[in-house]
Amino acid sequence: MLDYVSDKVQDEARQGEAFAPFTQDQNSYKKRFYIESYGCAMNFADSEVVAAILYKEGFGATKNVDEADLIFINTCSIREKAEQTVRKRLSDFKKTKAQKPGMLVGVLGCMAERLKTKFLEEEKLVDIVVGPDAYRTLPALVTEAEGGQKAVNVLLSREETYADISPVRLDSNGVSAFVSIMRGCNNMCSFCVVPFTRGRERSREAESIVNECRNLFEQGYREVTLLGQNVDSYYYAADNQPTVTFAMLLEKVALISPLLRVRFSTSHPKDITDDVLHTMVKYENICNNIHLPVQSGSSRILQLMNRTYTREWYKAKVDRIREFMPNCGISSDIITGFCTETEEDHAETLSIMEYSKYDYSYMFFYSERPGTLAERRYDDDIPLEVKKRRLQEVVDLQGRLSHESNKKELGKTFTVLIDGDSKKDETEWKGRNSQNKVVVFPKGDHNLKKGDYVDVEVLDCTQATLLGKIV
Ligand code: 5AD
Ligand code: SF4
Repeated sequence: MLDYVSDKVQDEARQGEAFAPFTQDQNSYKKRFYIESYGCAMNFADSEVVAAILYKEGFGATKNVDEADLIFINTCSIREKAEQTVRKRLSDFKKTKAQKPGMLVGVLGCMAERLKTKFLEEEKLVDIVVGPDAYRTLPALVTEAEGGQKAVNVLLSREETYADISPVRLDSNGVSAFVSIMRGCNNMCSFCVVPFTRGRERSREAESIVNECRNLFEQGYREVTLLGQNVDSYYYAADNQPTVTFAMLLEKVALISPLLRVRFSTSHPKDITDDVLHTMVKYENICNNIHLPVQSGSSRILQLMNRTYTREWYKAKVDRIREFMPNCGISSDIITGFCTETEEDHAETLSIMEYSKYDYSYMFFYSERPGTLAERRYDDDIPLEVKKRRLQEVVDLQGRLSHESNKKELGKTFTVLIDGDSKKDETEWKGRNSQNKVVVFPKGDHNLKKGDYVDVEVLDCTQATLLGKIV
């Protein structure tokens, strides 16, 4: 199925994975929980906050569903396909539960609010339902559910940022970590359910972000990705203290150490400022990579999507980025077959991809989501086969653009942060350059380890990977 296609296979591969950190003492936990996560990086980061809350209560994580007393599934609502997958998993767990009375199943995250009644009462699939702003109440809800009650908290908050909670890193490579800097979204793109599932935008206290990043660095991490639905509208103003903008926050994190790489995602094209671009140029350790979702190349469709920019405006933004950083990696999200999209609109999407020369994109066909502006205002009038055919054209073009972008790197030397063994061959390292391109190269007899930086010359490439040698 082409519902979700990506060059960055690791994101797709993460869907539904269950994670557990290294556990020191097998016997010291009151209960064991198993947590499976879906959706975006924000949602995976939330699972780490949930894990921290549960650890504090004396619960320990397990990767083995059979030894779990609590099963949690952190859900995504962004496309219909994601919801279907979650439903299927819940019916699997219902069977597990039938064999293991006393085991509790909880639904967390973006599907919670919309489907709470269905899950709890109609389908009797779960015992606990918790929305993304209510994780602090999880221990109390577990107690309630143990007492036989259906436990629900799907309240959204205008303040909750979990600023004081140090996430428990689940399945980390020990090199890169995600750090959530804001929650929610105020943009109201007409296709998107996020403003309804995750609520209003709010920024996390700057000092707590910097402290979390510093702690990660001290533990040996070498890369942090600052996460938010719309990072460029980060804005923190505490009483009697100077306001912190996103550019200022980036600088504070970059100053922790030149050895700590800083990335961020996602940028809304309307919000990324010259200040941010200046800061990126000023600090070598801020990676030259911007995720700048275009969604569509047609100004008419962009208006229906309520993206608040035109095709020309977006192209000017790409030009501006390249003016500041000629080698900056740019990536995108693209939707095909939005309401009323014509072949001409679609051709404009293809041509803006060519113009922007994306290194990679996350590509989707439009899936109508309940409660969104588009659902209320427009007809979902593009037949599925047409949406899929257009998506295939977008995917094919992105394949060519990714390959061309990689071919341009032949002969160049990049500083690569090693994040693990190559998946195919243990005698090779895998890492990323500043532009976020995956680089694979033979270990040779150099004494290197995960988390080290090394200069690698690119000798060859595929569509997804640069192949090189240490220089
Ligand atoms: N249908 C298809 N794709 C969507 N996205 C968000 N909502 C929808 C939808 N209803 C895509 C957008 C967004 C990414 C996270 O998911 O491209 O940037
Ligand atoms: Fe999915 Fe959006 Fe929720 Fe992330 S915020 S999990 S993409 S619905």
